[in-house]
Formats: sequence, C-alpha cells, structure tokens
Amino acid sequence: MSENCNHGNNDGEVIIDVKNLHKNYGHMEVIKGVDLTVRKGEVICIIGPSGAGKSTMLRCLNGLEQASSGQIVVNGHDLGDPHVNIDQVREQVGMVFQHFNLFNNMSVIDNITLAPKLVHKETDEQAREHAMALLKTVGLAEKADVMPRSLSGGQKQRVAIARSLAMRPKVMLFDEATSALDPEMVGDVLEVIRELAEDGMTMVLVTHEMGFAREVATRVIFTDAGVIEEEGTPDEIFNHPKSERLKTFLSKVL
Ligand SMILES: Nc1ncnc2c1ncn2[C@@H]1O[C@H](COP(=O)(O)OP(=O)(O)OP(=O)(O)O)[C@@H](O)[C@H]1O
Ligand SMILES: [Mg+2]
Repeated sequence: MSENCNHGNNDGEVIIDVKNLHKNYGHMEVIKGVDLTVRKGEVICIIGPSGAGKSTMLRCLNGLEQASSGQIVVNGHDLGDPHVNIDQVREQVGMVFQHFNLFNNMSVIDNITLAPKLVHKETDEQAREHAMALLKTVGLAEKADVMPRSLSGGQKQRVAIARSLAMRPKVMLFDEATSALDPEMVGDVLEVIRELAEDGMTMVLVTHEMGFAREVATRVIFTDAGVIEEEGTPDEIFNHPKSERLKTFLSKVL
C-alpha cells in the first residue's frame, strides 16, 4: 500500500495523538475525554450537532486553545510540555476557518508568501515560486497580483488554503471551510480539498457536507456532547450507524 493511501491501517506515521482530552470553559465541560490518533495520509471528517465541541477540539489540536487535561502530541511534540515552542508546532498544523482572514491590504501572492519569508526565511524568489505553484493547485494562478477584495468568497477561501499550504504543514485542519460560502462556491473549494486528499495530505475536517465526508473521508468521527460517540469508515457511519444519537443526527442531516 502506498504511503498516501493508508486508509484505515494502523501502521502509518502518527501525526497527531490525543489522549483523554478534556476542555472546560469555567464550570462547563465541553470536551469530556477524547482519544484520537491521526496517521499520515488519513482524511478524518468530524461530524456532529452544533455545540458538540468540534471546533474546540480542532482548536486544541493546534494550540489555539489549551487543554484542561489530557495529552496532545503533534508530530512528536507534546503541546503541554512547557519546553515545547508552540509557535513552531503550530507551523506544522495548517488551519482553515469558516472565515478566511486574508490580509486585505496585500495582494494575493503577498498574502501567501508573507509567512514563509518571515518564519521560514525563504527568499522572495523561493516563496513566490512555491506560491505560484499553490495558486495553480487551487485554480487561481491568474489572481496572484489582485487584492483580496476583488475575489469571490470561494476564491478567497482557496487563497486561504494556499496560504496555509505555503508553510508546508504536516497536517491541515479545516473547520467548516465551506459553510460561509454561497452554494455555487462550495464545489470549487471542496474540489481543492478533495485533490489535497488524493495527493496524500493528512487532514482533519469538521464539516456539515455529509456527501463530501462520505466520499473523501478515510474515517468519520461522530461527536456529540463532548465525546466521540461513534467512529468508523464512511460506510459504517452513514450506512450502518449503531448508536441512537448518530441515527437521530443522520435522520436530520441526510
Ligand atoms: N471561548 C468559549 N468560552 C465559553 N464557552 C465556549 C467557548 N467556545 C465554545 N464554547 C462552548 O463550548 C461548546 C462547544 O462549542 P464548539 O464551538 O466547539 O461547538 P461546535 O461543535 O463546533 O458547534 P458548531 O457546529 O455550532 O460550530 C458550546 O456549548 C459553546 O458554547
Ligand atoms: Mg464549530
């Protein structure tokens, strides 16, 4: 089996390892003991009702939120270890949100080259070459020199994906990357994510696009009320759900 096709096997390199993650906000426990291992080449789709803790979980994975207890190891670095440089770990974890947060005062290409030049000390030429290749990947090579305000929502989101990829992350996290888009823009963005999956990028996606999850995920995780209620292949989750909570959820969203 090729390394970018380790669907469901247990031998791939571990990229993210989460053990007994808990997260409280004040007295409210939002994540209640989650275990999750993400291996190289896996495409994990997290589904579940609003308030289940999906975004919180993703934000813990790249250190945007601190775990209340439990362990998160990213690429061998324990995020709870005070000696670990969280910024360096975060560079290895790309994150794309619902809202794209491009720098509106910079051209598309400058948005993409900024961090690689600043953080990885890439030369202007190296950074531009990589950025152009990424823009081509997301189908926007001709937009390199325009300002973000002249782009559609879907195009902005594809630039945001390219910008994140420019840091050469080990894993990409997507939090409902298409849910703020007009319906006709959704397909183009999903297509880019699908191509990344085919190229072997390791990804964790929170998504409401069940058809997409069914098609692209190597594993689907159903979360509810801060726990992983059920996980399995798309076929297991969508065609043979076991728990009542998952059955109820699917009856509302499919
Ligand atoms: N910064 C915060 N402070 C306090 N409570 C929070 C904070 N962030 C999230 N919560 C609460 O944690 C719970 C889980 O929120 P989270 O955003 O992770 O859910 P979600 O599964 O992503 O939902 P959605 O599908 O609506 O995006 C919710 O009850 C939410 O109100
Ligand atoms: Mg959310």
